[in-house]
Amino acid sequence: MSNKQFDVIVIGGGPGGYVAAIRAAQLGFNVACIDEWKNGKGGPALGGTCTNIGCIPSKALLQSSEHYEHAGHSFADHGIKVEGLTLDLDRMLARKDAVVKQNNDGIVYLFKKNKISFFHGRGSFVKAAEGGYEVKVAGAAEESITGKHVIVATGSNARPLPGAAFDEENILSNDGALRIGGVPKKLGLIGSGVIGLEMGSVWRRLGAEVTVLEALPTFLGAVDEQIAREAKKAFDKQGLKIELGVSVGEIKSGKKGVSIAYTDAKGGARTLEVDKLIVSIGRVPNTTGLAADAVGLKLDERGAIVVDDECRTNLPNVWAIGDVVRGPMLAHKAEEEGVAVAERIAGQHGHVNFNTIPWVIYTSPEIAWVGQTEQQLKASGRAYKAGNFPFLANGRARALGDTTGMVKFVADATTDEILGVHMVGPMVSELISEAVVAMEFKASAEDIARICHAHPSLSEATKEAALAVDKRTLNF
Ligand code: FAD
Ligand code: NAI
Repeated sequence: MSNKQFDVIVIGGGPGGYVAAIRAAQLGFNVACIDEWKNGKGGPALGGTCTNIGCIPSKALLQSSEHYEHAGHSFADHGIKVEGLTLDLDRMLARKDAVVKQNNDGIVYLFKKNKISFFHGRGSFVKAAEGGYEVKVAGAAEESITGKHVIVATGSNARPLPGAAFDEENILSNDGALRIGGVPKKLGLIGSGVIGLEMGSVWRRLGAEVTVLEALPTFLGAVDEQIAREAKKAFDKQGLKIELGVSVGEIKSGKKGVSIAYTDAKGGARTLEVDKLIVSIGRVPNTTGLAADAVGLKLDERGAIVVDDECRTNLPNVWAIGDVVRGPMLAHKAEEEGVAVAERIAGQHGHVNFNTIPWVIYTSPEIAWVGQTEQQLKASGRAYKAGNFPFLANGRARALGDTTGMVKFVADATTDEILGVHMVGPMVSELISEAVVAMEFKASAEDIARICHAHPSLSEATKEAALAVDKRTLNF
């Protein structure tokens, strides 16, 4: 057993943890990062859920499956004939794995570059020790290290349905959903949230008949209603079957597949028979193996580590960030918290603005938003103006061959300050950053309306939607 001393120990090497480690190292600290993720060969695979079974592989498969769908359905409109189109799923999955590995390797490189000591294994608290906290690393060997500060970034896990544990064969979490060996004829999903829509889209494009069962009566309740309606229309047209307001009952899994008993929105007893079932009903904070009790680290009733607005836990010099604490479970939120905490440790004023965290759903059409929705503004009684612009009237969207959706602004009725921007349509994952920048700088809709946007570009829809707030669009 060694006992190495560090200024900062980060437990967890996902986007929260690895970015916190890099920022702390940049600030001159002696940093260790512990991560237990194993690749197929038992070696380390830095990057956490996001890199291994989340953001990165899902986006790789969304891209590949979109190419496949275009080749099969929309190339013909462009005068490109494709005959004998076939799917090589093994190759598609192997490409996705290669993209993941590039990202794993990239983080190893960044750790070397920033002289971060990496420990592969499970990190758990032992005790408060002189000079900080003693943390045990249980990997190929066991060792003990001490850190003046500890940043916990242990992420989250998929939430199973009671009585239907994940076997990753028939009942799949996001992990199994990203590596189904053959396209299922019938695929069921429970939960029409972000994973339900993204994974449902991937497998539908590849040929599965997809049914999504959602408990809530409203589709994408957190999204601006007008945008959610537009998105639902597009998904319906694609044949992604989404049943709202259902109550899921018994789930039986056998050799022939999975049978899901449920009550539909009208109270009718129904059964859905599928080859595979993906359960995507949210995620739970992960503190398994952390030995929070050993040092008295406080968790809430959901199992999340309790933190204040600045990611301080109840223990001095112990911080927690990312999915394991309150707030949206998003990689960029975890990263921002990681940077802010490293800066606070250095005595600086790290800051995360929760009002300007963008959300993106990478379906087709993509859905993206930042700030408040129209329904939130109505509920709060704040006087606002709204304006929108459809991609149907945008030249670049016509040239691309994808005119679905719109950009929508909501701005303060008196000051014209942008309060929210909501988008559904092509590449809005990229367009949303302009809105984030504008809101960070407390811009008005008029500010965006007066900025020169390249022509022809999708971003002109953003400018036009800003003009629409003042009812003076130029092209609609
Ligand atoms: P994680 O990424 O979960 O990393 C935690 C790490 O800590 C893991 O490597 C884990 O093995 C390790 N660990 C846990 N306990 C210990 C321990 N005791 N000792 C050592 N190591 C430990 N977000 C987006 O912003 N955009 C997206 O497009 C997106 N797509 C997603 C798609 C899917 C299918 C899923 C499931 C999630 C997606 N997310 C996306 C969410 C995103 O993955 C998470 O918000 C993000 O990974 C959280 O980062 P984190 O660092 O807090 O935790
Ligand atoms: P989610 O919270 O987005 O959606 C879960 C859905 O399941 C909700 O609509 C909920 O009403 C429904 N639900 C809950 N219990 C149910 C039940 N018993 N029966 C039927 N429906 C039920 O969670 P999801 O999709 O699992 O994703 C987890 C998180 O991962 C997301 O919230 C997000 O933070 C992150 N993520 C982000 C992505 C992105 O940024 N593009 C992509 C994928 C995941």
